[in-house]
Amino acid sequence: MANAMRHFVGIDGLSRGDIEALLDDAEAFFRAPVDAHRSRLAGRTVVNLFFEASTRTRTSFQLAAKRLGADVLNIAAAASSISKGETLLDTARNIEAMRADAFVVRHPSSGAPHFLAARVKAQVVNAGDGAHEHPTQALLDAFTIRRHKKRLAGLTVAICGDILHSRVARSNALLLGACGAEVRLCGPRTMMPRDAEALGPTVRAFDSVDVAVRDADVVMMLRIQHERLAGATIATTREYARAFGLNDRRLALARPDAIVMHPGPINRGVEVDPRIADGPRNVILEQVEAGVAVRSAVLARLLS
Ligand code: CP
Repeated sequence: MANAMRHFVGIDGLSRGDIEALLDDAEAFFRAPVDAHRSRLAGRTVVNLFFEASTRTRTSFQLAAKRLGADVLNIAAAASSISKGETLLDTARNIEAMRADAFVVRHPSSGAPHFLAARVKAQVVNAGDGAHEHPTQALLDAFTIRRHKKRLAGLTVAICGDILHSRVARSNALLLGACGAEVRLCGPRTMMPRDAEALGPTVRAFDSVDVAVRDADVVMMLRIQHERLAGATIATTREYARAFGLNDRRLALARPDAIVMHPGPINRGVEVDPRIADGPRNVILEQVEAGVAVRSAVLARLLS
């Protein structure tokens, strides 16, 4: 990967070397005091353009940009002229006219950041597009796994839940596969893509959590993406929890040192038992902490 990137819109297309370079950059940011890079992006303007709700991603991009010395603006679609009928592209071009350097884009439509990247001069970062990709989430997940396991290659990572509608599952399968991990995707049949195993040579599909988590090094649970379900595809959340939720019995099937991950937001008692969500093997808040370092690394590569 060249030192400077033009856009960062997906894991798709990154090599193992690209991913490891970004993780190494993130490690340096993670270890540094929060005020160590205050002048790195001085004079640059980063605009968070969010068309979907977010707690972790928007806040951590904002913190990362601020700690690098950039000016940061947050624009939520509901409070912008999008609500009066302005198009995404017109909105972006108007903000760009005010000399924005980068857009961090979250959008319910797959491909929206790629669409903008092809049409604006500013640099574009994908902060989650529909059910397509969430590349910085996959990077922060890999960063967290690497800190615990000291490697990615050779690990077995079980990703369980609503795989079909999950951009997190897709980006993780691409990244972990590229780095030599075995990826097990598991969910109800109605929430599994038909071509799940096409995501990579090390990706395998399961419909039993008990089988998917057996001897796994990492168990990553995903919520049901209700906002993307086109019609009811589960009976009740209680049924779902019984069949697909992570509980003590299921976690005992994984390796004794397995870690439990979740990108958030968590639906306690549905995809994960609250005792596990708060228990000693969960690294969920470590994932959130890693988000600032990873997003610092991406913004620094783009804008330095
Ligand atoms: N993991 C994640 O994308 O969380 P937010 O929706 O809160 O940003």
